[in-house]
Amino acid sequence: MTEGPRLWGGRFAGGPSAAFDRLNASFAVDSRMWAQDIAGSRAHAKMLVDTGVISADDGAAIAEGLTRVEAEFRDGAFAVLASDEDIHTAVERRLTELVGDAGRRLHTGRSRNDQVATDVLLYLRDSVDGQLRALTALVRALVDQADAHLDTLVPGYTHLQRAQPVRLAHHVLAYVQMLIRDHARFAHVRAVSLAESPLGAGALSGVGFPIDRHATADALGFARPTANSLDSVATRDALADYLNAAATLCVHLSRLGEELVLWASEEVGFVELSDAFTSGSSMLPQKKNPDAAELARAKASRVIADYAGLQTLLAKLPLAYNKDLQEDKHFLFDAVDTVDVLLPAVTGMVAEARFRTDRMAAACADGYLAATDLADHLVRAGWPFRGAHEAVGKLVQACLIRGVGLADASGAEIAAAGLGGIALPDLEPAASVEAKISYGGTSRARVVEQLAAVRVEMAGW
Ligand code: ARG
Repeated sequence: MTEGPRLWGGRFAGGPSAAFDRLNASFAVDSRMWAQDIAGSRAHAKMLVDTGVISADDGAAIAEGLTRVEAEFRDGAFAVLASDEDIHTAVERRLTELVGDAGRRLHTGRSRNDQVATDVLLYLRDSVDGQLRALTALVRALVDQADAHLDTLVPGYTHLQRAQPVRLAHHVLAYVQMLIRDHARFAHVRAVSLAESPLGAGALSGVGFPIDRHATADALGFARPTANSLDSVATRDALADYLNAAATLCVHLSRLGEELVLWASEEVGFVELSDAFTSGSSMLPQKKNPDAAELARAKASRVIADYAGLQTLLAKLPLAYNKDLQEDKHFLFDAVDTVDVLLPAVTGMVAEARFRTDRMAAACADGYLAATDLADHLVRAGWPFRGAHEAVGKLVQACLIRGVGLADASGAEIAAAGLGGIALPDLEPAASVEAKISYGGTSRARVVEQLAAVRVEMAGW
């Protein structure tokens, strides 16, 4: 690769060693921010003209040159040189080749420290916008499944033991609730964490020209400039907020993935995943592996590591900018890429999943899922709940020994449990779910109500 000019050569007698260059250069990682770097430069140059710091002619030359550099990146024609340490260096070097001296004035009143802080926020903003849309698509797919399965019943579990029947819609909407909170966290990152522009903070202390930071903040779509120049170049809180939100989202997708893996197993058999989101085995011809669900389960580990990695990087750094901060993008981009890949795949998998309602119905009919309902029935007849719990427990034990369900308990068994003379209520799963009338419960009216509230929430997205 050709060696070109360095931005900071003046003070140095010799050039950097190849080994140092390999350590120091970040172009391979940060060149993906070319569009944001050029947008930031454009806003900065225009402001320099408007405040009279550079001439209108220089401003015009810079603007024209930036458009050409932008086209080179867009067309994949940008020729990177060995001396292009990072995206900022590369854009300025090329601009100067194209427009001469005007290009050398662009960095007036600006440092790479405020520049990179700005670029990364702009990049993250675009990413979050896309991911909010992708998250909306996933929630929509889940809502559609919930809508289609209002009257499908499935065992609900605690400790992975069958506990009480629930509507499948209710189960699916539990994930929707998690993702609604994720959406709020992402929206908060977008609206609050990414609201302030660091541009114009300079290297650390501000700049010695009458620049207009409000104007550049405005031009770049920020609400306002940051208030403290030291903090501006040192903080990566917006990235930490994003990574935190992304990690939590991925934990939710991981739990959904695990549940789909379990449900797709022959042992449970509650779902048939579509061919489009499963794979075969190279050796076992009968296999259909739930790879998408497994990877959804796995990716959380990676994004949690990205979050932990960034925070570990930031902890202990003194003010203000330190080169350590260059490593921030490694964590950020890994998480952004992971979420970008994950959301559409999970959405497709959910949209195309076929729930095996017959298997769910069989699982609901079998066992003792109505035990609590029987206890509740006794409570309504005046029993204290503890006594009812004890008596029903005895009846369950007797039925277990004989291998029958509660509804088939004999008169003698009922009497032995202390329930003599009591007419058992309807213990069908349908009656059980209908009884759960509390707000947020699994009765039909409550689930319909929940679905409607979700739709109202989504209308505001
Ligand atoms: N590539 C650097 C980064 O990503 C840009 C800032 C470098 N600033 C400096 N003074 N060396 O953080």
